[in-house]
Amino acid sequence: MRYDESVIEQVRSANDIVDIVGRYVRLTKKGANYFGLCPFHGEKTASFSVSPRKQIYYCFGCHAGGNVISFLMEYENYSFTEALKALAENAHIELPESAEEEDKGAKELRSRLLEINKEAAIYYNRVLRSPAGRPGYEYLAGKRALSNQTITHFGLGFSEKKQDALYRYLKEKGYDDEILDKSGLITYKETGIRDKFWNRVIFPIMDTNNRVIGFGGRVMGDGEPKYLNSPETLIFDKSSTLYGLNFARKSRSRYLLLCEGYMDVIALHQAGFTNAVASLGTAFTENHARLLKRYTEQVILTQDSDQAGISAKLRAFPILHDAGISVKVLEMEGYKDPDEFIRANGPEAYEQCIRSARNAFLYMIDVLKESFDQADPAERTAFMRETADRLCMFRDKLERDNYIDAVSTEFMIDRDELSRLVDRMIENGSHSSVFRDIDLSRRTARLEAGRKAAAISAAEGSGDSEEEKAAAAKYEKILASWIAERPELAPAVFRYISPDSFKTRIYRIIAETAQEQGSAFDAAAFLDRNDLTESDRKLAAEAFAESDQGGGAAGMEKADLEKGLAETVSALLSIRLDAEIRRCGNDLSEFGRLQKEKNKLRNLRIPL
Ligand code: GTP
Ligand code: MN
Repeated sequence: MRYDESVIEQVRSANDIVDIVGRYVRLTKKGANYFGLCPFHGEKTASFSVSPRKQIYYCFGCHAGGNVISFLMEYENYSFTEALKALAENAHIELPESAEEEDKGAKELRSRLLEINKEAAIYYNRVLRSPAGRPGYEYLAGKRALSNQTITHFGLGFSEKKQDALYRYLKEKGYDDEILDKSGLITYKETGIRDKFWNRVIFPIMDTNNRVIGFGGRVMGDGEPKYLNSPETLIFDKSSTLYGLNFARKSRSRYLLLCEGYMDVIALHQAGFTNAVASLGTAFTENHARLLKRYTEQVILTQDSDQAGISAKLRAFPILHDAGISVKVLEMEGYKDPDEFIRANGPEAYEQCIRSARNAFLYMIDVLKESFDQADPAERTAFMRETADRLCMFRDKLERDNYIDAVSTEFMIDRDELSRLVDRMIENGSHSSVFRDIDLSRRTARLEAGRKAAAISAAEGSGDSEEEKAAAAKYEKILASWIAERPELAPAVFRYISPDSFKTRIYRIIAETAQEQGSAFDAAAFLDRNDLTESDRKLAAEAFAESDQGGGAAGMEKADLEKGLAETVSALLSIRLDAEIRRCGNDLSEFGRLQKEKNKLRNLRIPL
């Protein structure tokens, strides 16, 4: 059994995060926070922050973040229990006995969990091959065009439309409820015991030693969620697992292909590109990069072509570069992902894309260029500064000079001018210490505007566009971070926007929790909630950390805060209204009402 919430709380609050982290990282005080070199990724400038007030850490470079317990788990590779034990010892707190014994059985437990996953994989595959698995087989072989050989190679399976078929199978094999609960394949709720996967095609996830450690499942047809993954367990850590790596590591290719989804990996392997891998629907991490470095010197990024895919590429690039891997970007204009591309154009065309893959840094500057209006001198200047700033990532002078050459030629920037700019930034240390995300919504908006001007606009679609979603998420993040920082703001904000209307899950949870708990809201305790995914936790830590930095609510005057709140709330509401306006079609009275609502936003005041 796990320890009691109150015990965990007691241990956590008895340990000061600055003290614990300070034993591993040299920290320097800057303002309210401490900074140091991030222990989770190689860096030369300090982007790792520790907040004594919130008792959390966050790295602005690699986005590692959490509380004192998760720090030890990540740094020392401890299990939760091990980290808790170490902290309890440090604070002279005695832990209840029972959980200690469990630790000794951890090894035994791991091998039992591996057994269960293997049994489940065999079971799902057998179902796929049986009459009950027909819908799954037809989907994979028909719609997704997978050969029988491919299905066998990846050990694909099917979970029936029965609620507890796997559960009963595993019970019969003699596994008890306690271990089945830990496997994550069965869910235990008041409403009953159910299989986690239900009416889905199943993708067994293997470690590099070909052992099944978890599963992904894709819904048949259009359902939500489209993909469901096993939860993290003792044997399944998403941040250090890459789908397909067990095969790709043996491909003897000079490079590996990094894509987004299970189906992309499988389609690529089937087409002969057996060097393809994917992260499991989670962000690409340091751990992933370290893992890849064991098998290759070069990675070609081939994530989806949409805005999310571009972001994914731009984020993976510095992580891979820091790990010493050379990075290229493959583009498939007009196709969503490698699976679609290959089905439409065949393997030779994809091979051609690989041959013309671009250097990742030049690709990034290209994306950057498209977010600025090159005809406007102010924007052109901003673009050049930003480019110089990014060139500072190359610490090796030779490498940097080569990039300065390439960039000046390709983007028609005076070489000496650019070189001087870079030198100056390096000399006075004024360049950013971390890779900032490029504001893709600006680029998308610019490209979109160009496209619209070119084409005589046909009737627009009615869905929310990607850039709107991204912009909304940005404002939700700001609000969540402010409310977390100063829960007393919550009632004022929630008068205009209800917590459950937040579109991005993690910001919604933060808002709802802040509403529930009021001034008792505690950032460190929040990060321990067990319903958060790893990416939730990172986003939350990031939001909490940002409120401490410039622009956050921490040190703002009341008047500025009121103004900032009003601006953010009205920006968010206005995005939502725009979407409604597009949806209201020919309903003129509704259109008028929405327009009026929108106009009112201009005068929005949020008195505190
Ligand atoms: P299909 O071709 O429609 O099967 O999907 P895709 O391969 O194009 O995948 P998509 O781009 O939608 O998603 C890429 C990856 O993100 C998937 O392989 C999953 O790992 C993950 N993913 C997608 N949708 C979800 C979801 O709803 N929940 C979770 N947890 N992960 C998802
Ligand atoms: Mn796809």
